[in-house]
Amino acid sequence: MTADYKDLAFQQCINPDCGASFDCGQTLFRCPSCGDLLDVRYHWDKIPVPRRLSDFARRWANRNHWLDLSGVWRFRELLAFCPDQYKVTIGEGQTILEQNQAIASHLGMGPDRLFLQYEGLNPSGSFKDNGMAAAFSHARLVGASSCACASTGNTSASVALYAHRCGLKCTVFVGSGRIAFGKLSQAMDYGAQTIQIQGDFDDCMRQVQAVCSRVGLYLLNSLNPFRLEGQKTIMFRVLEGLDWQVPDWIVVPGGNLGNSSAFGKAFMELKELGLIQRPPRLAVINATGANTLWDLVNNRGLRWNGGRYDRRQVEAYYKELTDRHFSPHTCASAIEISRPVNLSKCLRALDVCNGVVRQVTDQQICDAKALVGRYGLGCEPASAATVAGLRELLAEGTIAKDELVVCILTGHMLKDPNLTVNYHKDRQGSLSNPPIEVPNDLERIIELIKS
Ligand code: F0G
Repeated sequence: MTADYKDLAFQQCINPDCGASFDCGQTLFRCPSCGDLLDVRYHWDKIPVPRRLSDFARRWANRNHWLDLSGVWRFRELLAFCPDQYKVTIGEGQTILEQNQAIASHLGMGPDRLFLQYEGLNPSGSFKDNGMAAAFSHARLVGASSCACASTGNTSASVALYAHRCGLKCTVFVGSGRIAFGKLSQAMDYGAQTIQIQGDFDDCMRQVQAVCSRVGLYLLNSLNPFRLEGQKTIMFRVLEGLDWQVPDWIVVPGGNLGNSSAFGKAFMELKELGLIQRPPRLAVINATGANTLWDLVNNRGLRWNGGRYDRRQVEAYYKELTDRHFSPHTCASAIEISRPVNLSKCLRALDVCNGVVRQVTDQQICDAKALVGRYGLGCEPASAATVAGLRELLAEGTIAKDELVVCILTGHMLKDPNLTVNYHKDRQGSLSNPPIEVPNDLERIIELIKS
């Protein structure tokens, strides 16, 4: 791409009553005028976007080209906010869409109807790497030298990995005792300054924003609109895996609501560009112990309303949480969040994709995780919320058994080995498969195998 990035892309406030815009060379994270979230927007007429989505697939064969090897930058015309010289990749997005017949039939779905998008194959083991490839490219564009994030674990692992690749100093904030060990081990091993706050993710999120604005660190949470540009590509790859067919449903876990927001934006733009005829429907799945989105949408009627969503209702809800000293709790620690920073963008995604929100219990999450482990590639608890949510949506008839469904498996199974081992060892569910103790005796071992 030869044109100056300033001619191709800009940042814009998502609040229609504000709409302030800024160039991509600025580091903002929230609208300085009204405080709402920012979007990256494009002058599509100046970008050589392929006429058909299938044109992108040719790049698959071009693995010696560093940008084509990336499952993010392979779609670079759809996130054209920075010149190639700043782009960062460590091979993210080489993930697969697995058709899973066994889980489909377990859930009573028709043949060939269920696909699992396995984002655990990313370099740091979660979907976050899609976002970091884009956000760190922006960090390089603006000349950042140090960065930070708050995290339930995966963001910190991914940030730490990309930061050392890009030569940025990196600080991550995690809630003490609130993060799975696999993820904590990554942040430390990749060399991040790891700060454990005595509090939950929402406390960390508040602190990191204050620290970033006081000390001038580059913020890598999904408030950062460039991160969401990278996460759009998960949907491009889902479409690619389906030979450019749009599925009926995308099912995604809801935590800080970055993914659901990014997916909604991806489909909004593909429709605007005439590259798809209709978006799929979106199902966002909360854990019952961290169900802000579910509660606001299903019990309190919160809607996007053309961008004029009831901001006061959201503030009052958060005040209510503070007043009763609420802290979220779920075994799916990745989505243990009660003040999701991307709430407004997620409302927009639900609007664009005629979406629904459901909640699932920890037991449902653990059983679904065991199901994905038994018959699929395995995943971490938050990812399994999708399969648990799908089961609910099928039972209530919102999703029909013959609809084409894609569940997004956001993180690798080894992220949270403790939960998995306990589920099996302590027989916590119907799919528990505990190890069997035997004496060190050949006959007894053979007897056991034959039994
Ligand atoms: N699944 C996994 C494995 C995650 O790590 C996260 C979020 C989510 C789902 C929720 O995604 O925020 O886009 O709605 N993890 C963040 C972190 C919050 O800090 O690692 P979301």
